Amino acid sequence: MDYQAVLEEVTAFARPLVGRGQVADYIPALAEVDVNQFGMAVADVDGGVYGTGDWEKPFSVQSISKAFSLALVLAEGGGKIWDRVGTEPSGNPFNSLVQLEYENGIPRNPFINAGALVVTDRLQTLTGDASTTMLEFLRAESGNPDLAFDPAVAASETEHGDRNAALAHFMASYGNLDNPVPTVLEHYFWQCSIEMSCRDLARAGSFLARHGLRADGSRLLPRREAKQVNAVMLTCGTYDAAGDFAYRVGLPGKSGVGGGIVAVIPGRCTLCVWSPGLDTRGNSVAGVAALDHFTTLTGWSVF
Ligand code: DON
Repeated sequence: MDYQAVLEEVTAFARPLVGRGQVADYIPALAEVDVNQFGMAVADVDGGVYGTGDWEKPFSVQSISKAFSLALVLAEGGGKIWDRVGTEPSGNPFNSLVQLEYENGIPRNPFINAGALVVTDRLQTLTGDASTTMLEFLRAESGNPDLAFDPAVAASETEHGDRNAALAHFMASYGNLDNPVPTVLEHYFWQCSIEMSCRDLARAGSFLARHGLRADGSRLLPRREAKQVNAVMLTCGTYDAAGDFAYRVGLPGKSGVGGGIVAVIPGRCTLCVWSPGLDTRGNSVAGVAALDHFTTLTGWSVF
């Protein structure tokens, strides 16, 4: 496969959609990002990396971090996490509170905010420093030692974090957090604030295409758990748009309100696309279209 040629064709296809949608404005630091940007990268399972557009420009990973925190918890032997969070799509917005009460403080899945807070809580218990553990892991897997948190984004989110605080307190009232709410929120906001490029994210997510093997050939996850992370990405990684994403793209994918999406073609490659304009459900407009076109052109999807 000539990845570079495919990426160039996909980029030309997506270009007219760049600038459509809205940048996330509920986190003021993200509202300042120029909407007219687009980048896309592919990291194949043999270590080749290809890219187009703004593929080396860092952006805020936001909820894409949730896929890595889940993998890290499972890698630390945290399979019991599934007693505390489910594996079903929620059909609700990522920051919704409604299901939590009638489902007794157990979030539907690890990728809505409530579920991600439980996963971060578990990673904090397992490692003593959830957000630093994630940053170090991402540096190693991306091969980029300069990856960093963005303190302005973390501060902005802390200041406007009432909804996440409500979710965390509500789950704490059901006994579904082990650490104090402020600790969990702090690590969650910091993990979301990590800045990475499409290149960094495609490389860092390669273990998901390699059935759990890290960049250095060591095993992060048993094959079965890599399958589970990919499966939950497919069914829950784009929130209440997961059905539409599966229908259009046909791949496990995890989006973030920074405008990035990581998608996995197991056994072949990991993709990352970024364009900050979001649809009403918080997924990049040009990004989803680009992934749709990529799988259409290549015929590579899980279906
Ligand atoms: O919890 C939040 O609001 C953000 N830190 C992450 C949200 C996010 O990226 C949801 N994704 N589409």
